[in-house]
Amino acid sequence: MGGEVEVDGLRFDPEVSRQIELVYTTPDVIEQRRVVRTALALRAGDRVLDVGVGPGLLAAEMAEEVGPSGRICGIDISESMLAIAGTRADAGPGVELELASAAWIPHPAESFDVVVSTQVFEYVDDVAGALDEVRRVLRPAGRVVLLDTDWGSVVWRSSDDERMGRVLTAFEDHLVDPHLPRTLADVLVKSGFTVTHQSVVPILNAGYDDHTYSAGLIDIVSAFVPGHAGVAEHEARAWADDLRGLGDSYFFSLNRYLFVASAL
Ligand SMILES: C[S@@+](CC[C@H](N)C(=O)[O-])C[C@H]1O[C@@H](n2cnc3c(N)ncnc32)[C@H](O)[C@@H]1O
Repeated sequence: MGGEVEVDGLRFDPEVSRQIELVYTTPDVIEQRRVVRTALALRAGDRVLDVGVGPGLLAAEMAEEVGPSGRICGIDISESMLAIAGTRADAGPGVELELASAAWIPHPAESFDVVVSTQVFEYVDDVAGALDEVRRVLRPAGRVVLLDTDWGSVVWRSSDDERMGRVLTAFEDHLVDPHLPRTLADVLVKSGFTVTHQSVVPILNAGYDDHTYSAGLIDIVSAFVPGHAGVAEHEARAWADDLRGLGDSYFFSLNRYLFVASAL
């Protein structure tokens, strides 16, 4: 596969991949990974597949947990994300990386004890088909851990709520299903999984700070939305400037949702 892959509007090219890596090193997303790793409850020797491994931060942390007797494999459809993850894997314990899609996982049946996928299924065209692939590569009674955002959960203070509404609507074009969490448990059950845990993982940024999830999101949103849902470039710039100028009055929150299911 040459070049970069466009995922329903969002191109995980070198620039976006670098921005996402930066956002994923903020305390907000470090905390999210801690919650995900608690749900994963990995043990030494576990074999784990990370679908949509992205910048490889979670994969590197999981590699520490499973140790040398375990195995961490990461797949992703973005060459630039895999390049970033590759530099991280070089520095720590081995993570096997491969260019591949959730639609066709290049591993034999029953290869893994655990499959994890964070912030990926909302970009996937055929979630049920991807879950069939996850089930195929999991051993019997293996677990899948999924985390996705419901973009209907965003609360973001603005001086212009009408413009904020249009920008958020435009940004929903960046993925396939901006509201996946509200139906995901049903899809898991229809795909033959038993859902064992569901919880909310909120992010709250009160007061503006560059080193937060939402400060990085401002850059990603303002680069993406021009040309979507009638938002012009100057409006996107004004939207971003407004938020950055709110200082101590800045307020942002959204919810990710975490699902653990077992392949019985
Ligand atoms: C928002 S990033 C999340 C990265 C990583 N899972 C994390 O939480 O740090 C989304 C990632 O999913 C990847 N992706 C999107 N659709 C995919 C698919 N169908 N199969 C595999 N990876 C996919 C993108 O290339 C990108 O690296």
